[in-house]
Amino acid sequence: MCDTFGVSRTAVWKAIKALREEGYEIEAVQNKGYRLVDAPDVMTAQEIASRLNTSWAGCEVHYYDTTGSTNIEAKQFAEQGAPHGTLVIADTQTGGRGRRGHTWQSPSGSSIAMSLVMRPQIPPEKASMLTLVMGLAVADAIRSVSGMETQIKWPNDAVVNKKKVTGILTEMSAEPGYIQYVVIGIGINVNSALEEFPEEIRDMATSLKLECGHQISRAQVITETMRYFEQYEAVFEKTLDLSGLITHYNELLVNRDAQVRVLDPKGDYEGISRGIDAEGNLLVEACGEVRKVNAGEVSVRGLYGYT
Ligand code: BTN
Repeated sequence: MCDTFGVSRTAVWKAIKALREEGYEIEAVQNKGYRLVDAPDVMTAQEIASRLNTSWAGCEVHYYDTTGSTNIEAKQFAEQGAPHGTLVIADTQTGGRGRRGHTWQSPSGSSIAMSLVMRPQIPPEKASMLTLVMGLAVADAIRSVSGMETQIKWPNDAVVNKKKVTGILTEMSAEPGYIQYVVIGIGINVNSALEEFPEEIRDMATSLKLECGHQISRAQVITETMRYFEQYEAVFEKTLDLSGLITHYNELLVNRDAQVRVLDPKGDYEGISRGIDAEGNLLVEACGEVRKVNAGEVSVRGLYGYT
């Protein structure tokens, strides 16, 4: 190495030390040199930007080793005029937020926390469907990178082997009839170990690595998600509903044609889930009628657990 790079042994040693500090596992072999044993899952702005092959999703990438919440960060960028497609990514969050006031854990080195700023020219009441469009994109990205069958738990969680691997939190700033911006925040458990999950969710959550048995590249999952999202969002924008995506969405829907429990503030009930309609409502057959279940109001569970 010294000859190849024209540097001293000390310079090589210093570089190896720096790489080890970044997480590279490097073995020193006496009289021979060094051997790279394992590389960390690198997820820098440069790494993501160089892999992205999209026209607007991820046009600007902001990366943080640590931040409170990428959704909050993305909203601040949006307030300061960040363009449609700005992507904020963090290796870990100290105050990750989930739906319905829950917290969201993003362990360092093993998970994805990212938020996409959008400025869609659509009526504000249509924006909630973007969450389902993203859910579909994430599920397809996971399948494409890991090769595992990935399903969707309505409205937008990606599930592998019936366990949750992602969560999506969409936030919007709008005036009557006009959207200022939408921020879609996505959390993905990529290489997380079981101990990294809070004990109370270990039976319903998992990571891609736990399910497929090997490390998955976070950068690849991010870029595939942006690629699919851009593709599906274009289909959504044509009709301003999910009619062009409904067949594919319903193919991936976990519990399709199965008994589910609808957790309705007006009273829980059971029924058979028949897939979504073009507005993203879940159609549930119950008490001799088909009810439209709206994601903003209720949640749905399988009869024997999370899915
Ligand atoms: C859920 O409750 O299922 C939604 C979880 C959403 C988590 C993501 S991680 C990136 C972004 N930043 C946040 O604070 N939340 C979202």
